[in-house]
Amino acid sequence: MSEDNSRNSQGQAPETPDQRLRTALLADKVVVVSGVGPGLGRSVCLEAAAAGAKVVLAARTESRLKEVAAEIEAMGGTTLCVPTDITDDAAVRNLVERTLAEFGRVDALINNAFAVPSMKPFARTDFKQITDSLELTVLGNLRMTQAFTDALAETKGAVVMVNSAVLRHSEPRYGSYKVAKSALLAMSQTLATELGEKGIRVNTVAPGYIHTDQLKWYFGEVAKKYGITAEQVYQTTAAKSDLKRLPEPDEIANSVIFLASPWANAITGQTLDVNCGEYHV
Ligand SMILES: NC(=O)c1ccc[n+]([C@@H]2O[C@H](COP(=O)([O-])OP(=O)(O)OC[C@H]3O[C@@H](n4cnc5c(N)ncnc54)[C@H](OP(=O)(O)O)[C@@H]3O)[C@@H](O)[C@H]2O)c1
Repeated sequence: MSEDNSRNSQGQAPETPDQRLRTALLADKVVVVSGVGPGLGRSVCLEAAAAGAKVVLAARTESRLKEVAAEIEAMGGTTLCVPTDITDDAAVRNLVERTLAEFGRVDALINNAFAVPSMKPFARTDFKQITDSLELTVLGNLRMTQAFTDALAETKGAVVMVNSAVLRHSEPRYGSYKVAKSALLAMSQTLATELGEKGIRVNTVAPGYIHTDQLKWYFGEVAKKYGITAEQVYQTTAAKSDLKRLPEPDEIANSVIFLASPWANAITGQTLDVNCGEYHV
């Protein structure tokens, strides 16, 4: 990208610093996003594409992958959709093969997959619910990271694990989720140590609330139950944070993009809490 600030040959105004940044941050990079759903997964894909990356979309529901890919292609981006269950060895191998066949490289792997965990107290949580959660969050993300290690070593690439602010509290009923996400953090830190000698960085983003459509629906339900407005539920929830608001999905996604990008080249083994200041660590 030219550093010349004069008008270009078509007489167009120079790009603003923000446009330059967003074009350059992941220009020519290939980013694999696993667990593309309607919430954060979609936002990570869109922000990665806006930052210049070619995006590989992976989750089990092909129709959703195609919907998100269509949004990216409409803005001029490049995508590859590979329906993938990250708990399945063969499916993950297929994802690696399809990615390398299409783009020949991988610069970043974003592990975002999520399934609603048991929200019962431990006394009423059966072991199957806990093992399912570990199977997805810990072993699924480990399988993905193992499978992409050789490709990431070639590019000295990055892994970003999407974790949760459940790391920061011990509220009742979150036990199963907390066990899985705590194990994910422990695994991420060890992976940072082990993969560091290959030049691969492994970092974590821990979102608190994310102001997704799902959360908006939930606030609506709470509002109906207590005879108040959804806006009042939002304000009461947001009051616990320093900024008195909840992060939007694209704000969490931008933190993920930062850690995946060369701007974070000296950062590994770290956790970035993105919660408008709800918790200080
Ligand atoms: N939402 C929040 O408020 C919140 C708060 C803190 C942290 N987080 C974290 O943020 C991340 C994203 O959460 P989100 O709610 O926004 O989810 P999302 O991105 O909307 O969707 C995640 C997707 O993961 C996919 N997935 C589940 N099991 C999978 C499997 N076995 N293989 C491949 N993909 C699988 C599901 O799609 P398929 O069913 O199509 O596979 C699901 O749609 C999660 O790691 C979550 O823990 C979320």
